[in-house]
Amino acid sequence: MEDDRLTALRRAMPEAELELARPTLARIAALKTAREAVIVAHNYQTPLITAGVADFVGDSLAMARFAARCAAPVIVVCGVHFMAESVKLLCPDKTVLLPSAHAGCSLAESIGADDIRELRRRHPDCPVVAYVNTSAAVKAEVDICCTSANAVEVARSLGVRRLIMVPDRHLADYVAARTGLEVLHSGGACEVHVRYSGTDVDAYRREAGAVVLAHPECPREVQERADFVGSTGAMAEYLATHRPRRVLLLTECSMADNVALRQPEIEFMRPCNLCSHMKSVSLAGIEGSLERLGLRIEVEASVAERARRSVERMLAI
Ligand code: 13P
Ligand code: SF4
Repeated sequence: MEDDRLTALRRAMPEAELELARPTLARIAALKTAREAVIVAHNYQTPLITAGVADFVGDSLAMARFAARCAAPVIVVCGVHFMAESVKLLCPDKTVLLPSAHAGCSLAESIGADDIRELRRRHPDCPVVAYVNTSAAVKAEVDICCTSANAVEVARSLGVRRLIMVPDRHLADYVAARTGLEVLHSGGACEVHVRYSGTDVDAYRREAGAVVLAHPECPREVQERADFVGSTGAMAEYLATHRPRRVLLLTECSMADNVALRQPEIEFMRPCNLCSHMKSVSLAGIEGSLERLGLRIEVEASVAERARRSVERMLAI
């Protein structure tokens, strides 16, 4: 195993745990070479995956951008289904693998293509933006996609006073607060981020004096109390630049473990909320995925063509 991966993992876990994982880590490394595969991981994956086997780690936008310029014939996406689908849209000729059959997303599941058609019928003059946390079928019905990293720019780029942004009501609030635009939504929410409340923030601030960072999927009362609100990538950048000593990071729990690999001096306060979908990806799943070339992501051609346009419009901004 490469020295830098080993050093990072030693920082993240007890030696005994690492020893148990080492044979699987070695088999994954060999399979990656044999398959000429790359592994792309989201910031919510555990250090065993991000530091142990991933070639690229980032937020949804960075993962999509990496995939778009990637030359490898096989891409394993350690994230959830919509992320793997976005990669497949951008790399239709590649084999795109998702190592878990249980990696859904409460936001993506909250809305379907019929809902978009109904919204368009009710608001014919409103452009429709889909958060990337949606299915390809939804992306095929909208004008453009966005992620939490670029939602504000995407909304501004439309040049309108009123738009629809589906499905997340809290992301819509975040965009409305920063642009002054009227942002309609479909009432969806992330099952992980809605667990944070304004009372949590007040209590931690009072007791620990921590700097508070929140993801835009958190409720408005949390966003309003936070020192910084942004995508997982933007939060990592904020921490690297500002180097606060004590931090309340209001997002999925593994994000703090990944930042701690680079910035062990930060003390993280953790009301720990895990995303069960993200956590269904495991080293054993990655190994099986590379061995059997499964679970292959496929998107029906007529859907893929229209969905790709929405994603590419976003990447062009
Ligand atoms: P990011 O795009 O900020 O990484 O967020 C993705 C996500 O699913 C957050 O819950
Ligand atoms: Fe979906 Fe929320 Fe999990 Fe992100 S944290 S993948 S939005 S359920």
